[in-house]
Amino acid sequence: MSQVTIESILQEKRLFHPSPEFSQKARIKSLDEYRQLYEKAKADPQTFWAELAEKELHWFQKWDTVLDWQPPFARWFVNGKINISYNCLDRHLATWRRNKAALIWEGEPGDSRTLTYAQLHREVCQFANVLKQLGVQKGDRVGIYMPMIPEAAIAMLACARIGAPHSVVFGGFSAEALRDRLIDAEAKLVVTADGGWRKDAIVPLKDQVDKALSNNTVPSVQNVLVIKRTGQTISMQPGRDHWWHDLQAGASAHCPAEPMDSEDMLFILYTSGSTGKPKGVVHTTGGYNLYTHMTTQWIFDLRDDDVYWCTADVGWITGHSYIVYGPLSNGATTLMYEGAPRPSNPGCFWDVIEKYGVNIFYTAPTAIRAFIKMGEHLPRARDLSSLRLLGTVGEPINPEAWMWYYKVIGGERCPIVDTWWQTETGGIMITPLPGAIPTKPGSATLPFPGILADVVDLEGNSVGTNEGGYLAVQHPWPGMMRTVYGDPDRFRRTYWEHIPPRDGHYTYFAGDGARRDEDGYFWVMGRVDDVINVAGHRLGTMEIESALVSHPAVAEAAVVGKPDELKGQDIVAFVTLEGNHSPSDALLKELKEHVVQEIGAIARPGEIRFADALPKTRSGKIMRRLLRSLAAGEEVSGDVSTLEDRSVLEKLRQGGA
Ligand code: PRX
Repeated sequence: MSQVTIESILQEKRLFHPSPEFSQKARIKSLDEYRQLYEKAKADPQTFWAELAEKELHWFQKWDTVLDWQPPFARWFVNGKINISYNCLDRHLATWRRNKAALIWEGEPGDSRTLTYAQLHREVCQFANVLKQLGVQKGDRVGIYMPMIPEAAIAMLACARIGAPHSVVFGGFSAEALRDRLIDAEAKLVVTADGGWRKDAIVPLKDQVDKALSNNTVPSVQNVLVIKRTGQTISMQPGRDHWWHDLQAGASAHCPAEPMDSEDMLFILYTSGSTGKPKGVVHTTGGYNLYTHMTTQWIFDLRDDDVYWCTADVGWITGHSYIVYGPLSNGATTLMYEGAPRPSNPGCFWDVIEKYGVNIFYTAPTAIRAFIKMGEHLPRARDLSSLRLLGTVGEPINPEAWMWYYKVIGGERCPIVDTWWQTETGGIMITPLPGAIPTKPGSATLPFPGILADVVDLEGNSVGTNEGGYLAVQHPWPGMMRTVYGDPDRFRRTYWEHIPPRDGHYTYFAGDGARRDEDGYFWVMGRVDDVINVAGHRLGTMEIESALVSHPAVAEAAVVGKPDELKGQDIVAFVTLEGNHSPSDALLKELKEHVVQEIGAIARPGEIRFADALPKTRSGKIMRRLLRSLAAGEEVSGDVSTLEDRSVLEKLRQGGA
């Protein structure tokens, strides 16, 4: 399957209009309506957002300033008092939605559970009371390391309810990675489960938590709250570990939502960058609530009788914004699925769509490519006629995958929203509004109203039509990250100084390459920094290199991405060994396993190549461009005059040592 290349997207001229029937019923019905909204928001962003905040959300107290922008630090809805858990739950209870399904859950071995808004509210209140009972107070951080079960969402909403910022760590991360994040966030309590189901096997989450906390390496953690999911034997440390079901039994279902300041921290979510350890992206309450609420409503064109399914994990931003907060704030029915397509049931996604009559389905290109490989017969054997709208996120989608999705899953009647955004942006930034914006396979199309996105050069000047450049945003937006937890300087350096500020005007640098075509449509090309996107998971090459060099046999390591048919990119590591070690299959395996131990299975290198030396410039910098070409099996092109030792290149080309 072809990769996304500049050539392939320049040739992509197909245009798909939403059907008149879709547009008539849509929230935003035409390109004109979109353009009017966009222009209105551009002319006066503060009034645009303030009107929506007033109309769409409940505030305990109204703000007095819409935006306080001290670049690069923004405060939205200053002095407003709000609680996102209240907006996601309590306000729906007074309406007919009280007994509407809020959360439909399908567990991997076939378990299922549905919680109405009233039931979800009850459990969230109990959970919040248990957190309080265990000493969690407003402002304390809570780590959440969970499988995809309702309690993951319940724990998040309970934290939000009492004002304790959560930090969800994806259940696929290793004990080491979990430990680093708990230390950085100084978490006071960890919520976990005995285990979770993934691909017909149990993921032993509590064991990982025990490892992460062993030898008191995370002294801030005082308690661990454990949900029983899989039922296998685990060890419970007296005094520290508590079963949720024991404490739930005695917990009151009454817990008023704490009025939070708009700018109080809602959560920290760690994400990889090109340098150093993963950074804690900080999101706050009011702006994030509004931004996820509006984007969910307009982009997924939500209606009250929809069943909406986003297949992400709550460990990623997509799960935060588009499984939990955005849909529930809108009073939607959100579906949560524990598993992944697996050998015992490769058609499980289509079964879920058929079983619940899913109307809106949001997944990742890597999943779509896997579905293509598994075969059309699987979706064709199910009734997918309930689907009305499809979405993708996480990486560029190649036009063939887009077309397959459109035809085979969407029956050529469902618009596709290809949504570009990031952990840092809090919500979707560039996307079709499905009833309004005609789509082109592979393009995320146009920016959401209020988002002044552009493609610029490193001076911040817009580049010409179809010229490559850097994806950038020119004005703050309510859902933007506020800082890097504990490191405001890193926030400034990473996002606001690549493009030097001019006359007090700051530009947000996203780290992606992009171009705009003659219709102003954005085509996102992928990362321009040392971040690789493996099956929609974002990983820093440096993190993987650090993991490799922490192995005693490794002297030096350089990690690059190479194009991969299924995963988009795969990890290739070039490794030089310490003198007393020599390459072997056993060592290769051991090194791969070592990376899994250090980071998690998502970072397992697809390929490790042993080398005598790595190609470096005279000043000692590893020439990754060369390694990328080598990894992709391409001819090494471009300037190699700065390469210190040309024989290194020759050896690497021949397959290394
Ligand atoms: O490179 C872009 C890619 O994913 C990166 C953000 O990763 P993360 O923070 O983990 O968030 C993923 C889910 C929002 C971006 O910098 N990316 C995300 N969506 C798209 C995309 N690339 C192209 N097209 C997209 N629709």
